[in-house]
Amino acid sequence: MRKAKYLFFLAAIFSFSSSSAQQKKANSDQQMNIFIKDLLSKMTLEEKIGQLNLLTGGEATTGSVVSTDVESKIKKGQVGGMFSLTTPARIRKAQEIAVTQTRLKIPIIFGQDVIHGYKTTFPIPLALSCTWDLALIEKTARIAAVEATADGLNWTFSPMVDISRDPRWGRISEGSGEDTYLGSEIGKAMVKGYQGDDLSKYNTMMACVKHFALYGAAESGRDYNTTDMSLNRMYNEYLPPYKAALDAGAGSIMTSFNDINGVPATANKWLMTDLLRKQWGFNGLVVTDYTAVNELIDHGLGDLQTVSALALNAGVDMDMVGEGFLSTLKKSVQEGKVTEQQVTNSCRLVLEAKYKLGLFEDPFRYCNEERAKKEILKPEHLKIARETAAQSFVLLKNQGQVLPLKKTGTVALIGPLANTGTNMPGTWSVNSDLEKTISLLQGLKDNAGPGLKILHSAGSNLLTDPEYQKRATMFGRDLPRDSRTAEEMIAEAVATAKNADVVIAALGESSEMTGESSSRTNLDIPENQQLLLKALLKTGKPVVLVLFTGRPLTLKWEDENVPAILNVWFGGTEAANAISDVLFGKVNPSGKLTATFPQNVGQIPLYYSHKNTGRPLEEGKWFSKFRSNYLDVSNEPLYPFGYGLSYTTFNYSNLRLSKNSFKPGELISATVTLKNTGAYTGKETVQLYIRDLVGSMTRPVKELKGFEKIELKAGESKEVTFKISEEDLKFFNEELKFVAEPGDFKLFIGSNSRDNLEIPFKLTH
Ligand code: BGC
Repeated sequence: MRKAKYLFFLAAIFSFSSSSAQQKKANSDQQMNIFIKDLLSKMTLEEKIGQLNLLTGGEATTGSVVSTDVESKIKKGQVGGMFSLTTPARIRKAQEIAVTQTRLKIPIIFGQDVIHGYKTTFPIPLALSCTWDLALIEKTARIAAVEATADGLNWTFSPMVDISRDPRWGRISEGSGEDTYLGSEIGKAMVKGYQGDDLSKYNTMMACVKHFALYGAAESGRDYNTTDMSLNRMYNEYLPPYKAALDAGAGSIMTSFNDINGVPATANKWLMTDLLRKQWGFNGLVVTDYTAVNELIDHGLGDLQTVSALALNAGVDMDMVGEGFLSTLKKSVQEGKVTEQQVTNSCRLVLEAKYKLGLFEDPFRYCNEERAKKEILKPEHLKIARETAAQSFVLLKNQGQVLPLKKTGTVALIGPLANTGTNMPGTWSVNSDLEKTISLLQGLKDNAGPGLKILHSAGSNLLTDPEYQKRATMFGRDLPRDSRTAEEMIAEAVATAKNADVVIAALGESSEMTGESSSRTNLDIPENQQLLLKALLKTGKPVVLVLFTGRPLTLKWEDENVPAILNVWFGGTEAANAISDVLFGKVNPSGKLTATFPQNVGQIPLYYSHKNTGRPLEEGKWFSKFRSNYLDVSNEPLYPFGYGLSYTTFNYSNLRLSKNSFKPGELISATVTLKNTGAYTGKETVQLYIRDLVGSMTRPVKELKGFEKIELKAGESKEVTFKISEEDLKFFNEELKFVAEPGDFKLFIGSNSRDNLEIPFKLTH
């Protein structure tokens, strides 16, 4: 079909207009259906199968397979989408082939992992979630979409909404932590940010919710590992964030690599059809993860033809990289293993996504060099990146108010992560402009002013074992090894520290120590860095640990011995400036943890919303014989979910309810007085938790049900009110019905999941 014909056709159908938004939507759906039905009627089986093929066109790969002969495949109509190809010029070139040299001239959809920003990179998702600021998170997704669409893209493989309670899993860095409610709210905010209110706009892109499903529950925290979970836990704890992001309008969803209760997600008909399509009513596009169809062979489900048919039959539409659909579906149709109608249905969903993005109207809508020059790395974007990074840092300890630092005297910046800019953006920052990302050393120099002298020494290598270091810096993000011995490096660092008034130790993980295929079993700060830290503390100088990490680490020793700990995650393009802002007190830290920090690895999985058990510990004790506990460590986390300090202090008082019991259809309100009792203006995230005390099933000891981030000046107080309805008390019962059960509840409000005020209430009939 020629482009001119498309345009004429579309002009004709767009001329019908209607005043009401609903009517407009119905009309445009109708127009789309007419258009796509017409197009499908002209397509051969091979052309339809071609639309289900998603190839990689760039350098960023996350598996051993890379697409080949892409250009000739496009010409043959064998490519529906491409990903990891960027810049308007390169995308235009590929699109031109599709819309001028193929029989039906169907445009290609262009995707990419735009996960936490594009060239302007924001903090890693786990860090972003610690801002507890939904509007800010939405804004980061909006900026990511503005930059990515200016560079030719129209589809992002984000948000990643996998709940994870296992920090051994490297990909905990890519999600919003352990909590179902917070994770759902963040998923929605990101979809809104990417897609805006109209997917066909030149600066909005289609979101892809991933990884469906339960990918974050991999056994023993080992990536790609098996998951096995009760339906009840799935429905109450793991599935809601996917559902919430889809309900927010996400146009696509990605299958996960893992096996779920014996059937891998990519071949799981219950998951992809019964739950996703029938129960949830999702009518967008289902794409696999990278070569996930082919991996069904290793899962033990059959040969390529068998597993490709299984995936299509399960409800998968588009096959990422593996080309199993391309090479076997025709044969499977001929042999009756799948029907042509199924191929047609999947093809229709691919075409619909393209239609909604406006690609049939203008296949080059997202290719605009001028926009790319103007929009990418705009000063406003960098400003938001700096603000966001500063908001994401979590102050874990600040004994004796070591922080904020004065801008006078001498500071020694020491550690293997002190003088690297490329380590700042963190996992999935393939598009990040590394030239723009300065080191912490440079950041401190730029922000300190003339009164502060800054000394520097590396102090240690990233890891003791060179082979481990190679694995932990696989994608070449610098961190070269220093050939000196550990003793020589520490001696130099100690001598440097002795000349300073205060020491900043920049330690932790490299960006490649978290993210995909980066699971760890030992979550301590690496041994050689710990030795360095101990030597620095021995100098008697006050030490501030600036911790780089993509996961909760085990910091028991550090918590007991280091006066100040600021967790800065991987903060993105503006990380160094933002860290300086917080260290010097220009910004008061306000981040709160969204994943529990355990005392040791043996406690994992450790999360605040656990069940009570039949033998809970008595309050105030940490061990009792024949109770649910350990001999060698208490059940407590090191830092609980929701925890994070400020340079100021907050006091919670006078928790009260509008009434002590309420009925379905009514509301109850809970109010608390929050006061800034310290010396600085600061932000506090007030958290509301509920416990269902008696139920037809065991219920968690606490569940987050609301939060509000509030800024108060020193001495200022504010009344904070939350409204609770029956809806907030609902859960999936044994029959998987979403119900609230009348009875006794407890409500908690406080500054984290551990420290809060509480009050009882009842739900009656
Ligand atoms: C990851 C996905 C990603 C895809 C495409 C896979 O290895 O699991 O999260 O979207 O690669 O890059």
